Amino acid sequence: MLAGKRILLIIGGGIAAFKCHDLIRQLTERGASVTPVMTRAAAEFVTPLSISALAGEKVFTELFDLTAEAEMGHIQLSRSADLVVVAPATANLMAKMAQGLADDLASTLLLATDTPVLVAPAMNVRMWEHPATQRNLAVLQGDGIRVVGPSDGAMACGEFGPGRMAEPMEIVEAVGAALADGPLTGRRILVTSGPTHEPIDPVRYIANRSSGAQGTAIGAALAALGAEVIFVTGPADVPPPAGVRVVRVESAREMQAAVAEALPVDAGVFAAAVADWRVASASDRKLKKTRDGLPALELAENPDILAGVSQMGAGRPGLVVGFAAETDDVVAHATAKRARKGCDWIVANDVSPATGIMGGQENAVVLITADGAESWPRMSKTEVARQLAGRIAGALQDA
Ligand code: C5P
Repeated sequence: MLAGKRILLIIGGGIAAFKCHDLIRQLTERGASVTPVMTRAAAEFVTPLSISALAGEKVFTELFDLTAEAEMGHIQLSRSADLVVVAPATANLMAKMAQGLADDLASTLLLATDTPVLVAPAMNVRMWEHPATQRNLAVLQGDGIRVVGPSDGAMACGEFGPGRMAEPMEIVEAVGAALADGPLTGRRILVTSGPTHEPIDPVRYIANRSSGAQGTAIGAALAALGAEVIFVTGPADVPPPAGVRVVRVESAREMQAAVAEALPVDAGVFAAAVADWRVASASDRKLKKTRDGLPALELAENPDILAGVSQMGAGRPGLVVGFAAETDDVVAHATAKRARKGCDWIVANDVSPATGIMGGQENAVVLITADGAESWPRMSKTEVARQLAGRIAGALQDA
């Protein structure tokens, strides 16, 4: 998939720069060529010599390197690649990109390029969570820049949380997805997946049996057709697909916020099994057994994320796909649900225990559109996902 592809790799100044050794190796082993550019700060973490030795190419560092200007010029350097990868993308580099600053070679290339850009953020957790960085992230995504990671984990600074750069293999997968030329190339698609967990107290929650398998397969199938996928997932059993931007949430309300942040998108696929109710006032302390009897859990209704997006008016995705898990009268219930929610399509399935669909490998779905109900034969969840992704590609092409 990467054979013959040219990657311009911009290495920012963060401790995660050391992972670029492995990243370059993984990319070149797959037949890609890597032209490295290092910021001045990056050279404090890894040496240009080791980077150039692994890439087998000269490392570019200075904007006013006249030899390089004569040989190539920064404009040409920025455009001769199939993909620009920024790893690690530091908070500073992301801020510069969001503002369009061009005060060194790396930022000038990023401003001058007309090539797709993928960034792999890496920074301290507080810096990542800072509203300024989150604002910059939203600007970059709005500009069509793809993002891989960051992931949660122990960080070099001793803190724990999101901010750790995606592993080289994840970046390679995201590079593959960004370069995948397919009918969904250039399209941004949101997928929700998995169950939600609604807290009762800090240790207990209400959940459901969704494994996240169907949503994960859909995310993978859309990415394989070239879409940029924002994958908002509750705590699922299966790991999220590769090559997508993963946003992890726990509760329905967190999922709603993550969905709002992901907009605008060309299409939204709402495969999550969102809990209908939450505990009205979850306790911030563990509930204790007392002699006074059982605790009464008062429930409150969760926001209907699918209905909210379907009915949002301006900014509504061109195509909104909902799911309906039914145990009887599937077509009638799902058709009514499509009208009630205001979505374009409903993928309906029979989840009565006898079907073994919930948590299983297979699915038998009925696709409900404005044109009526279409029953698909029982097939693997992967195949359902592939066919659905194909239909989505067709619908967006026609739009
Ligand atoms: O109403 P019901 O839960 O059956 O609808 C299922 C569809 O609605 C699914 O696509 C699910 O992801 C979505 N949904 C939602 N927010 C909720 C409940 C369901 O987005 N609170």
